[in-house]
Amino acid sequence: MPRMKVTGVGMYVPDRVVTNNDLSKLMDTTDEWIVMRTGIKERRYVPDGMTGAEMAARATDIALKEAGIEKKQIEAIISATLSPDHTFPGMAPFIQDKLDLGGCAVMDIRNQCTGFLYSMAVADAWIRTGLFKTVLVTGSEIHSTALEFETRGRDVTVIFGDGAGVFICQATDDENTGVIATDLHGEGKYAKALWVEAEGQVFHPRLTHKMLWEGRAFPRMKGQLVFTHAIRRLPETMNACCAKAGVKIEDVDFWVFHQANLRINEFACQALSIPPNKTLNNIDKYGNTTAATLPIVTYEAQKKGLIKRGMLVGFATFGAGFTWGTMLMRW
Ligand code: UT7
Repeated sequence: MPRMKVTGVGMYVPDRVVTNNDLSKLMDTTDEWIVMRTGIKERRYVPDGMTGAEMAARATDIALKEAGIEKKQIEAIISATLSPDHTFPGMAPFIQDKLDLGGCAVMDIRNQCTGFLYSMAVADAWIRTGLFKTVLVTGSEIHSTALEFETRGRDVTVIFGDGAGVFICQATDDENTGVIATDLHGEGKYAKALWVEAEGQVFHPRLTHKMLWEGRAFPRMKGQLVFTHAIRRLPETMNACCAKAGVKIEDVDFWVFHQANLRINEFACQALSIPPNKTLNNIDKYGNTTAATLPIVTYEAQKKGLIKRGMLVGFATFGAGFTWGTMLMRW
């Protein structure tokens, strides 16, 4: 049975840097508070006219070069995003059009911070069954146009940033490389702990001026609840995935963590005795880019020589839904 291997990684973030001090001019917050509670120093925001599809396409150009393949070899595009350029038909068709890849399969996955991990799991399943040999998985997010730049929304607004990252996933017959184990979970009873309520198809009409005025169209979060679940669920799923793979936590050479809060990742590493040299946190530069985060961290870790071919690499993430999971692969 073929296995899924990542042959190319790409990322794109907009040039516009927004610092904590920039935000403190718009709302009651400080650089000190944001750095201490989250580890974030700055994030990137798209300029007018930049789309999520364009960012994904730019990241794909980089990944294709690393993979050394023609883009026409891509047979399917899976787009993970919570911020599609338009409400429907989803983001993947727009990315496909940007890449001029008409005819290949396209699909969106709406799983927020775990969207990229779930998308990799789908790509892995498609490749194992022989349906496709080359799948492009993208994570592309524009948060900056949907945040509340006032004190009421400060807890959420300071943590999110824009960006994109992609993996080129390909079939391999080499048993010493590719995905080894995957562990995925969700718990819908916490769906409203981190969500955007409106517009909502359940409302008649689905969006009103009153809803906008009340701020129900902005993301809202029960921060402490999310935090306490994240620090419990991450070690749990990492252990479970290692057990499925028949390896120990210490056998994993490098961990790619979602970047929601530096303190969450520090807790997880402390709980599992993972030394700092086996991870890379770049939340200080980009904030939380949700579905784009895993490939962005992977790209930078590869560039720094922290992830090398042959290493056992783990991907672990927790986010809205709640959803969480881990994937282990021989890089
Ligand atoms: O990506 C999906 C997953 N998301 C996460 O994993 C996020 C998880 N949660 C968190 O990272 C943290 O809960 C936050 C960073 C969002 C908040 O940190 P916290 O230590 O949990 O703070 P808190 O919500 O308990 O708020 C403490 C105080 C409050 O003031 P009072 O009530 O003590 O007077 C907040 O109003 O901090 C206030 N506060 C702020 N102050 C300055 C909240 N946001 C801010 C802010 N600047 N941006």
